[in-house]
Amino acid sequence: MTQREQWTTRAGFILATLGSAIGLGNVWRFSYVAGENGGGAFLLVYLAAVVVVGVPLLLAELALGRHTQGDVVQAFQEAAPRSPIRFLGIVAVFGSSLILSYYAVVAGWTLRYLLDYAIALLGAPPAESAAVRFERFIAHPVEPVAWQLLFLALTAAVVIAGIRRGIESANRIILPLLGVTVLALAAYSITLPGSGAGVRFLLAPDWSAVAEPRMYLAALGQAFFSLGIGMGVLTTYGGYLGRRHRLPMAAFAIAGGDALFALTAGLAIFPAVFAFGLEPAQGPVLAFVVLPQVFASMPGGALFGAAFFLLLATAALTSAISLLEVPVAYVVRRCGIARRRATLLVAVAIFLAGLPSALGYGPLSQVQVFGRAVLDAVDQLVSDFVLPLGGIAIAILVGWLWGKQTALQSSDLGIGAIAGAWLFTLRFVVPAVILIILLRSSGIL
Ligand code: PHE
Repeated sequence: MTQREQWTTRAGFILATLGSAIGLGNVWRFSYVAGENGGGAFLLVYLAAVVVVGVPLLLAELALGRHTQGDVVQAFQEAAPRSPIRFLGIVAVFGSSLILSYYAVVAGWTLRYLLDYAIALLGAPPAESAAVRFERFIAHPVEPVAWQLLFLALTAAVVIAGIRRGIESANRIILPLLGVTVLALAAYSITLPGSGAGVRFLLAPDWSAVAEPRMYLAALGQAFFSLGIGMGVLTTYGGYLGRRHRLPMAAFAIAGGDALFALTAGLAIFPAVFAFGLEPAQGPVLAFVVLPQVFASMPGGALFGAAFFLLLATAALTSAISLLEVPVAYVVRRCGIARRRATLLVAVAIFLAGLPSALGYGPLSQVQVFGRAVLDAVDQLVSDFVLPLGGIAIAILVGWLWGKQTALQSSDLGIGAIAGAWLFTLRFVVPAVILIILLRSSGIL
């Protein structure tokens, strides 16, 4: 058996993990969920969720992965060899594949928009409004599937190239570019006349939203999705990490970087939305329908649009890579096959699983799951159920089953007040908070 690969440097590892966290969730999902939930108040609760639930779970997943130096199934089995929870590793493998199945569809939309704006930049602006074009595009029987396939092919190509040459290199190039692009977009957006209302919407809490129970749910679900916790991604990435790296600072850097990115993306989006007199509470179409309206009416809009969708597509790519690595690492070990073959097999399966999501607004629009299109329903299932369940499993596994000494040592926290607080949070706070979300979302509480 060949030696498992490891990240080249600590920075390379942190960039890859940040790349996993920063994605469609920070821009597409964050902006529409914040838009629907009152802006500033949502932002506060979301940040609290990142600190209270997010950072402890992040650290738990990284510690588990690095200690076991394996894929998520192996990690679960080793940490709790006698508890039934050990079988949940395989649920994470299917869960991350399920997320990627529809994530690739939305990412495919961003590639298509990128092409559109690139063409507009060359001097051929489209005749119809963005809303009309979007409706027609997602209803088409072939187009969304073709873009979904292209996006998955790009993702698979990086994963085939391996940890260092593929994943680490891609993130080293893409992440700095993402940072520069989002800052430039935000800087431009807040200098638009009339943008002040948008800045206030995002940063000044509207206290009436605090009374809304839905807002807490939305903020917690968003924290999970955006950090990418609960699906073994960080466990898998931690499995390629050498022992000499310190974990707690990495967990803070990742959570902080991810939240900062979402905030900056919000500053790119809301000021522009308000400056052009549009509504922020538009649901999932915000990035695809409302923003193009903004781009259409602003000077230099085609360039802004191209930069924005390039940002979205590349951010999605680094997250999709991490989602694909979870099943690939498992299949490579379990079936003893080469990385290339494993990646192709898994990618084809995920492509097929994503077809109902890709076609759900067109040929399959008759198929409604709980009154929603397939993609919306799967996204809902993931954020309301699959991710929280994964979070509880990790908290119980690391907090209760792994053994106190091993957990504290593997997390690099050692002994002391912070170590105690971390363990207490994993044991009691995280499960309690998540349980409340679950009960609330199912209407029991
Ligand atoms: N965090 C990614 C995003 O915000 C999505 C993701 C979810 C990645 C779950 C890994 C695991 O887009």
